[in-house]
Amino acid sequence: MAQVKRIGVLTGGGDAPGLNPAIKGLVYRAADHDITVSGLYDGWRGLLNPLPDPLPLDRAHVRRWDRDGGTNLGSSRTNPFKSTTETGERVDRSAEVFENIERLGLDAIVACGGEDTLGVAARLSDKGVPVVGVPKTIDKDLAETDYTLGFDTALRNVTEIIERSRTPAGSHGWVQVIEVMGRHAGHLALWSGVAGGAHLILIPEYPFLYEKIFHLLRERLGDTRASPRDPQRPRYSVIVVAEGAYAEDGGLVTIDDRHDAFGHARLGGIGEVLSRRIMSETPYEARSAMLGHPQRGGAPSPVDRIMGVLFGARAADAVADGQFGKMISARGIAPACDLSLVDISKVLGKLNIVDVERHYDTERYHLKGIGM
Ligand code: F6P
Repeated sequence: MAQVKRIGVLTGGGDAPGLNPAIKGLVYRAADHDITVSGLYDGWRGLLNPLPDPLPLDRAHVRRWDRDGGTNLGSSRTNPFKSTTETGERVDRSAEVFENIERLGLDAIVACGGEDTLGVAARLSDKGVPVVGVPKTIDKDLAETDYTLGFDTALRNVTEIIERSRTPAGSHGWVQVIEVMGRHAGHLALWSGVAGGAHLILIPEYPFLYEKIFHLLRERLGDTRASPRDPQRPRYSVIVVAEGAYAEDGGLVTIDDRHDAFGHARLGGIGEVLSRRIMSETPYEARSAMLGHPQRGGAPSPVDRIMGVLFGARAADAVADGQFGKMISARGIAPACDLSLVDISKVLGKLNIVDVERHYDTERYHLKGIGM
């Protein structure tokens, strides 16, 4: 096996806190192996023509990156196997990726991303490109790993907002609906809802019934908004709804009908639909808030910093050992976690979603076993 001298690192898909710490871990550990690292801009787009100059990364350059949110290399949802042209056509430009890896003198690629970015990595790996994957997504929906970078920070962000929503909701006596990201997985909604003390949590893994939501609201708030106030009864409610949640008799709600280069629609709007139904079919006043991209924002949490540097360093070791076509996998979460390598191909085609049987109370629309 030829010795690796130069790694190209890229970050693809939605940005997530933890990516910059991962790049720092990679660069620091790669230096121990006498390997240099080049930063490729904007995900897989960084390997397509016109070829941007990569960013040389050394310890001095990335020393403070572990404190930075987002990704300092930029990101995109570029799919080189289905790249969109100016006229909207989708074409296979993967040949440019091969040429450019060679042109830049890269001996290996470290791709940090979720299902889509790693799906491209797997296809390139099948064609002989030496690739190692680092799992990242606030959705935590990647298989074969207990952790994906960004989840903990997003959980912190969403929990804070749920908490802050209590004062307006409590002051006005509203049902506050909060729509949370996560695509088809309910991890972020479920655990932020628990941490933030939401009354009801709706997840994609279990289609909900409007009638049951109305019933649970009545149970908590009473038939009308009490006047004079009943001090025994809460006068507001917070409902957390995952963007991918849907009613048993309805479908997914999307922002528009466009799809990205990986075929995904942008989910969003179920919170507003629910809030309107509450207003028209119950006596309660409702408001909805779609939290959107700031959920992924801000400095990484301690867990994302630690997991990031550990994942990045492990990726450098994998490259130095010539272990390609693999993704770093965590069993357990920082600080008590074990890292190993799994075949990227094993990660794809199956999502890690909430285990309803184990965690979800389908009668109370809440976490199972805590009596809420
Ligand atoms: O996968 C991360 C994520 O934030 C999802 O939770 C969300 O559905 C999607 O990205 C939003 O896509 P975009 O960042 O392209 O708007």
